[in-house]
Amino acid sequence: MNNNNDKTNYCGLSQEQLDAHWMPFTGNRQFKQDPRLIVSAEGNYYTDANGRKIFDGLSGLWTCGAGHSRPEIVEAVSKQVKELDYSPAFQFGHPKSFELAHRITELMPEGMNRVFFTGSGSESVETALKMARGYWRKKGLASKTRFIGRAKGYHGVNFGGISVGGIGPNRALYGQGIEAGHLPHTMMPENKFTQGMPAQGAHLADELEEMVALYDASNIAAVIVEPLAGSAGVIPPPIGYLKRLREICTKHNILLIFDEVITAFGRMGANTGSEAFGVVPDMMTIAKQLTNGVVPMGAVVAKQEIYDTYMETGGADYMLELPHGYTYSAHPVACAAGLASLDILAKDKLPERVQTIAPQFQELLHGLAGSKHVTDIRNYGLAGALTLAPNNGQPALRPYQVAMKCWQKGFYVRYGGDTIQLGLPFTSEVAEIDSLINALGESLNETE
Ligand SMILES: Cc1ncc(COP(=O)(O)O)c(C=O)c1O
Repeated sequence: MNNNNDKTNYCGLSQEQLDAHWMPFTGNRQFKQDPRLIVSAEGNYYTDANGRKIFDGLSGLWTCGAGHSRPEIVEAVSKQVKELDYSPAFQFGHPKSFELAHRITELMPEGMNRVFFTGSGSESVETALKMARGYWRKKGLASKTRFIGRAKGYHGVNFGGISVGGIGPNRALYGQGIEAGHLPHTMMPENKFTQGMPAQGAHLADELEEMVALYDASNIAAVIVEPLAGSAGVIPPPIGYLKRLREICTKHNILLIFDEVITAFGRMGANTGSEAFGVVPDMMTIAKQLTNGVVPMGAVVAKQEIYDTYMETGGADYMLELPHGYTYSAHPVACAAGLASLDILAKDKLPERVQTIAPQFQELLHGLAGSKHVTDIRNYGLAGALTLAPNNGQPALRPYQVAMKCWQKGFYVRYGGDTIQLGLPFTSEVAEIDSLINALGESLNETE
C-alpha cells in the first residue's frame, strides 16, 4: 500500500500515519488496507483521492443537507475566525450565541424557547437527561431519576445516551450505564414496505403505561425517543404513536424528550420532526443540520417552564443555576456557521423543497422492492432505508458489501446493522436520486 506506482492514491499517507488514527465507528483493519479518502466536497458531491466524483447519499452523516461548501457559510465562518476566534463559554458571552438561540426558537414549536448549546448530538442528549433529573429535584421530586428509551433508539455514544439507546452492539461492550427501561421498537412485520408513516403500531406507545405500572411515575424522569429513528435504519413513527406517548407522559408528569439530532431543520420536510408529526415534546436535542455540518455544534431546546424552574430555584442571582456546560458551548465559529445555515434554510426554503421532492424519492426508493436481498423499505421526507436479508447468519455483511459497490460506482450510502441508509441532500435533483437508486439496485444484484 501507499506505493506511488500504485493506481490507488492514498495521499502519500504512510502505514504508520494510517494506524495512528483510531477511527470512530469504522472497521479500522479493513479501512487501513484500502482507505477510502475524501479530499474535497462541493454541492452534492465529494471528490475522492483518485479524483472521482462521489454523490453524497447521506448528506455527510445527516449533516450537510444544504450541500457542501456553501459560500455563505464559508464566508461567515472565515469572517468569524478573524473577528473572534474563541470567547469563554462560562460567565461571558458574545452576541452571536444570543442571535442564534433566538433564531432557533423561531423554528421551534410554540413555547420551546430556551436554548442550551453543546458541541454535538451526544452532548445534547447527556445535557437533556441531566436537565430532566435536575428539573425534578428542583421541584422537590428527587426520586424521578429513571429514563425510558426505546429499542433500536440511537442517542449518541456517551453513558447516558447508550443507556437510553437501544442498539445492542453500541451498549454491549461497556457494562452498566444509568437506570433506563426501553419501550419496544415500532418495526412491525405488518408494516413492511410502508411508504411514509405506517398505519399499525400506535398501540405500542401504551407499553409506557406498563412501564409506569412497573417503575411508578414517581421514579421516572423522562421518556426519550427519536421522532423518526435514524441510525437503526429510518423507522418512521406509526400514525398516532407519538401523540399517544405525549398523552401518557403528560398524564403521569413525565418529561418527553425528542431527540431530533437527525430530524431537525429540514429533513422531514418541516423545521422539526415535532412539526412534521404534530407532537410537541418538553425538550428537544438538535445538532448536525444546525451548522450544515461545517462546525460541530448541538443544543438542547427546552420549554420555558423548565428554564424558569431552574431560574426560580437558583439562589442568589450571581450563582449559576445549572452546573453544566462545555468549553465549546456556543463557540463563536459554530454560531456563525449556525446563523448562516439557518439563513440558507429559510432563503432556499429547504423544508419546502424536501416536501416537494420527497414523493419522487419515495417512489424511486420503493422501486427497489423485489430487488435481491431486500426484505423491507422505509422512508419519510428525505430519509430512507432498506433492510437486507442476512448472509449466512451475518446480518451486517451484505449492507457493507452493497455500500462498497455503491462507492465504487460513485455513490456514498451508509451501512449500519442489516440496513442501507439514505439521507439525501435537500438540494438533490430527481435525476441524481434516480442515478443513486439505479446504482443501489445494481449493487444489490451484484452482491451474493
Ligand atoms: C438521534 C441522534 N442522537 C444523537 C446522535 C449523536 O450525535 P453525535 O454523533 O453528534 O454525538 C445522533 C448521531 O447520529 C443521532 O442520530
